Amino acid sequence: MTNSAAWWRTAAIYQVYPRSFADGNGDGVGDVAGIRARLGHLKTLGIDAIWFSPWYSSPMADAGYDVADYRDIDPIFGTLAEVEALIGEAHDLGLRVIVDIVPNHCSDQHAWFRAAVAAGPGSRERARFHFRPGRGANGDLPPNDWQSNFGGSGWTRVADGEYYFHMFAPEQPDLNWANPAVVEEFDDILRFWLDRGVDGFRIDVAHGLVKADGLPDIASLEPGAGKPYEDQPGVHAIYRRWRAIADEYTAADPKRERVFVGEIVGPDPEGFARYLRSDELHSAFNFDFLFCPWEPARLRTVIDETNAAHALVGAPPTWVLANHDVTRVVTRYGRLDYTGFGFDDRRHGVPSDLELGTRRARAAALLSMALPGGVYVYQGDELGLWEVEDLDDDLRQDPIWERSGHTERGRDGCRVPLPWSGDQPPFGFSGQGDTEGWLPQPTGWKDYTAEAQDGDPASMLSLYRAALAVRPEFGDAPMAWLDSAPEVLAFRRGDLISVSNLGTEPAELPAGTIVLASGPLDDGMVPSDTTVWLRA
Ligand code: NOJ
Repeated sequence: MTNSAAWWRTAAIYQVYPRSFADGNGDGVGDVAGIRARLGHLKTLGIDAIWFSPWYSSPMADAGYDVADYRDIDPIFGTLAEVEALIGEAHDLGLRVIVDIVPNHCSDQHAWFRAAVAAGPGSRERARFHFRPGRGANGDLPPNDWQSNFGGSGWTRVADGEYYFHMFAPEQPDLNWANPAVVEEFDDILRFWLDRGVDGFRIDVAHGLVKADGLPDIASLEPGAGKPYEDQPGVHAIYRRWRAIADEYTAADPKRERVFVGEIVGPDPEGFARYLRSDELHSAFNFDFLFCPWEPARLRTVIDETNAAHALVGAPPTWVLANHDVTRVVTRYGRLDYTGFGFDDRRHGVPSDLELGTRRARAAALLSMALPGGVYVYQGDELGLWEVEDLDDDLRQDPIWERSGHTERGRDGCRVPLPWSGDQPPFGFSGQGDTEGWLPQPTGWKDYTAEAQDGDPASMLSLYRAALAVRPEFGDAPMAWLDSAPEVLAFRRGDLISVSNLGTEPAELPAGTIVLASGPLDDGMVPSDTTVWLRA
């Protein structure tokens, strides 16, 4: 790992989705004990930091992104004491720890929301959320036309007739950030986790939080005005306040900068960069890169625009291929027509050539790790897992499936428990036990377990380990494109060169010594869908 205080500027960060990483207590659901038992995998992989998706007390209406208590751990995952031990063990291995913070909304089982429902209209308790009377003669129409990102109206009615707003599921009421009590509560939650030694926070829906004054109908706004519950100017004051808190902890222990990474979807490059000003967030996920199809011209543009937007504020870019909300890379890149990704259409079941997808995923992994800034690895991508698209519909747990009226199959297919060892499910997911994981694993994953790939030089795991071992040599060297055919992405950073061939014909290699290749070369040429790293 990188030891400098500014570790985050170049870090490789691995996302653990706790319910699917490893199960320590044999109940089929991943947990903190399972993570602790598998920390060695992450150390050997060669990453710098781990981002943990939420593990807080939660009724799990949205797999933990519906938090009932931000200061405790849900019993399905373990205890606060176990998490404290895990933070210490990760640090002992030289791995930093980033926890997920979910400030836009909480759970409908959070003490605040229960109190709000009980207290009734006009109460101090309701003022922590967005409660409004309905419209129409009987008040039985929602207060405005805002929709939920998970489908259907964004408003749900309580027994006394008022409605509350939820950007996601009805079980995830949005908090009212215009209320100082909400602001102060989150200051305290940040401190709670910083006091437990975390190195940073991933901010869920960081562009949400602040809603436009008066909660105007979208239909009443100028075309192109953007949603009145996204990217509102007031959100920046929150992050300046949070940055001051993190900086306080950094000042007390300057070798370890405490950082934020924002989930920011939607703004244009300048709007995006505003979140990354030096007194706001340190970094943010690069969704443009994630959404981008495996096409050279579009990738080149995204890379250039990313670098330019971040240069405006001196922030390091991030390179993200996947997370727990999107179709796995191997499946996406194996689609024969269009390889991009959109939240509004996951193209579930569109045919995918997994061999082609795997070749491209290998090339994309090296490309993303060669680019300047930080890189994210979603658990299981280092094993080359594909999206599980043939889950029985009655096993689906993602609220999107119900909320969309069974038209959108949601995100369960990228959340299937990881295969660790052995030749049949649950592939070591439940330790020594044979309890099936909370979603069934494909039997074909027997060749994709960490055990099966360990020591096989041709495996995805070996490629990730090798690439993460070389990656620190890129350091913080700036990137310069090299002359190449348009379908080849070739650039130099310091002494290293990265060449990705996205064309159909083999491409020439620039001069240099080969350090690593995502696949076999073709008579000294870079074959289609292959990335090669060279030392100049
Ligand atoms: C983004 C998270 O990544 C996703 O999993 C979640 O459903 C929504 N935010 C709501 O919290």
